[in-house]
Amino acid sequence: MADKKRFTSSRKLDHLRICAEEDVESGDAGFSDIRFVHNALPECDMGSIDLRSRFLGHTLSSPLFISAMTGGHPGTKEVNARLARAAERCGIGMGVGSQRAALENPALADTFAVVRSEAPHAFLVANLGVVQLRDHGVEWAEQAVEMIGADAIAIHLNFLQEAIQPEGDHDATGCLDAIGDLCRSFKTPVIVKETGCGISAATARKLWGAGVRAIDTGGWGGTSWAAVESVRARESRNARDHTLESLGGDFAAWGIPTVVSLAEVLATGGPVIASGGIRSGLDIAKGLAFGADLCGMALPLLKPAMESYETLGAAIDAIHRELVVSMFLTGSAKIADLRKVSLQITGRTRQMIEKDNPARIK
Ligand SMILES: Cc1cc2nc3c(=O)[nH]c(=O)nc-3n(C[C@H](O)[C@H](O)[C@H](O)COP(=O)(O)O)c2cc1C
Repeated sequence: MADKKRFTSSRKLDHLRICAEEDVESGDAGFSDIRFVHNALPECDMGSIDLRSRFLGHTLSSPLFISAMTGGHPGTKEVNARLARAAERCGIGMGVGSQRAALENPALADTFAVVRSEAPHAFLVANLGVVQLRDHGVEWAEQAVEMIGADAIAIHLNFLQEAIQPEGDHDATGCLDAIGDLCRSFKTPVIVKETGCGISAATARKLWGAGVRAIDTGGWGGTSWAAVESVRARESRNARDHTLESLGGDFAAWGIPTVVSLAEVLATGGPVIASGGIRSGLDIAKGLAFGADLCGMALPLLKPAMESYETLGAAIDAIHRELVVSMFLTGSAKIADLRKVSLQITGRTRQMIEKDNPARIK
């Protein structure tokens, strides 16, 4: 058990290093198939564009959400602290990475708790894997929320990663019931998120039925956990793990592109966070115009956060500038206006949406 705990924690550092140094992105989230219709007479003042957004009863200064990434090893604390400081300064929401390591070993709790001390007013989201929820029940979810004074908890689904990890959990039975039990007994809102493979309409319907309050697409086209685990397998000294390297490579193309997943989930309800392969403020504008409530970014914020707080701040400012310019050029003085502008959707994304969600491409 002690080895297992140490392993959960050291894996967190492996993930940060691999995501920062290796090419771990795969596919196409679909944003390049979306174009705005340029408004040559926008009739609004770019200097007073209002990015404020509502989500689960909270008002955020912008729809940019820092997706769940880290915590769980002493070496990750500073990255979480920088992300949280930026969330506080910008008035944006932030998720922490899976809190499993700190629930197994409370000595690591400060690598997560630091986010609340750095961001006393921010909208913060706790994080737990669905398998840990099933195995440890509501008690772990309560502890995770308490650890960071969270405003919501995200339960993550990552069965592609589990299938490729040598130490992965391969039994996915009982997970929907566990989510339902949590939603029934918990006052804190429950969000369910994927981690790079997207959520279909059929899965979304089950999740709303279980009582979740929001869904985060975590779609395909950005960070690929098949790619990350493939690198870990390649680096392993254990020959058995080397077969997992090619398994990871084979499944890097597996998943529902983010824009397609967004169409699927929106057809069933909301609110929805679009995430997975969102790489600019323009992508955020497209996600919002398509119907998302917030747009989450992980990898593009990780690299600057590992460098310095100043680099992270500059990256967030650049994303916001792109969002503001996109809003200006569509004549959108506020987020609600952006939701009304028309979009041109082409290519493979159009083909994939047309069949099941034709209303979304009108
Ligand atoms: C280094 C790293 C660690 C992550 N750890 C978690 C995690 O612990 N829990 C989780 O729900 N998602 C985790 N994710 C997934 C992200 O929240 C997000 O769903 C995914 O990376 C897609 O977004 P992106 O393409 O902008 O990176 C992690 C992502 C990165 C890059």
